[in-house]
Amino acid sequence: MEPVAKTEERFVIGGLAGARTLRGSIPVRGAKNAALKALAATLLFKDTVTLANVPDIEDIARANELLRELGVKVTRLGAHAYACTPPASQASALPPAIANKFRASIVFSGPLLARTGRVSFPHPGGCLLGARPIDLFLNGFAKMGATVGEKDGVYEIVAPKGGLTGATIFFKNPSVTATETLILAAILARGTTVLKNAAREPEISALADFLNACGAKISGVGTGEITIKGGKLLSAKKKFVTPPDRIEAGSFLILAALAGKDVTITECEPAHLLAPIEHLRDAGVSIETGKKTIRVMGASPKSPYAACDIKTSEYPGFPTDLQAPMTVFLTQAAGNSRVFETIFEGRFRYLDALEKMGAKIETCDPHRIIVSGPSLLSGRTLESPDLRAGLAYIIAALVATGESVIHNVYTIDRGYERIEERLQAIGAEIKRI
Ligand code: EPU
Repeated sequence: MEPVAKTEERFVIGGLAGARTLRGSIPVRGAKNAALKALAATLLFKDTVTLANVPDIEDIARANELLRELGVKVTRLGAHAYACTPPASQASALPPAIANKFRASIVFSGPLLARTGRVSFPHPGGCLLGARPIDLFLNGFAKMGATVGEKDGVYEIVAPKGGLTGATIFFKNPSVTATETLILAAILARGTTVLKNAAREPEISALADFLNACGAKISGVGTGEITIKGGKLLSAKKKFVTPPDRIEAGSFLILAALAGKDVTITECEPAHLLAPIEHLRDAGVSIETGKKTIRVMGASPKSPYAACDIKTSEYPGFPTDLQAPMTVFLTQAAGNSRVFETIFEGRFRYLDALEKMGAKIETCDPHRIIVSGPSLLSGRTLESPDLRAGLAYIIAALVATGESVIHNVYTIDRGYERIEERLQAIGAEIKRI
């Protein structure tokens, strides 16, 4: 049974009033944004694919529902493992009721179109971060020979007779999900596809390494130009092992800097977090990296961290998904810090509540703010606006004085597995009610 969304649940958090007391180790789960794409990729296989280290979160439950609707047999093998067996013939429509719930649903359109010759889907759901257009996907499909139509909010894409054809596609922005979707579509296309100005996120490399081990011919991943030689259905010669979630690890890093005495983040990949680590070190945070661990020793609250500027950008730059937690960090740093969000125009919706907690923030325009610190935050009732900002609120509530209540916990459960249990284990006072 998949977990059921419980929208009425809330977190009650006891703030530490700036004390740095958390200690112990906290494990990182598999990356949501890697596992979701591997589930979509199972649509390209002729046999059963096994996936390991899959986080037990709401978005994965939705992706499994989607696969089942398409006829895939999804079997749960354990807390973090699944087997996906393709049907003899797949359906081609992504049901709007499910696809509307998460952005990664659009990634399923690439392999479905390539395999069945057609696909229909609604505008994908997901966190409200701005416009989140899908023109790069539609233009890419058209370049590969498909006919693209739209009726009553449902996109209808039809491949030419004989299937998609390889093409050279330039992305005006390096989009993560468009890069993944078109890689998956190109695997079954006739001829070679070249993606220029492609995204370089490590989750894309994890996906491509797995696909190559199963018969795909993808090269250049991790650079801005990716080449895919089209071929046949893949065969599951290897298990997909989900890499650690770098955004979860980065959020724990920020929490440990603000509220930790001595915290070790385990089962993570420090090499994927170079930009956040460099910024936090510049601000004065003491960080030691091991092979799969990051240890953070909180400085005395009497000598606050230093302000620093951040500008979000594509990997390996500072991730937009850590912008909200980092802003909470900057409320505790001495001086003025400038935050420049370059990826999404609607990613500051969480600021109002943070200001009501006592943060001093000046909004310059929809992409830029100035945070002046340090400020004393006080606990209050909060409504999580989206997944990443939800975790930022948890961090703010743990730093604040008094009690906070966070509603709309579903948005946090979408991406973080039973977050309260792992935070309790390092000494945080957080309860799910
Ligand atoms: N863009 C377009 N046209 C498109 C697609 C994107 O103009 O057709 C623009 C976007 O508006 C944005 C930029 O390209 O300005 C980059 O967006 P991207 O497409 O890379 O974002 P995404 O693929 O929708 C993924 C993650 C996000 C993460 C971003 C950026 C998944 C499922 N989502 O989104 O993760 O913030 O990359 O790294 O992989 C999250 O997990 O909470 C989350 C929001």
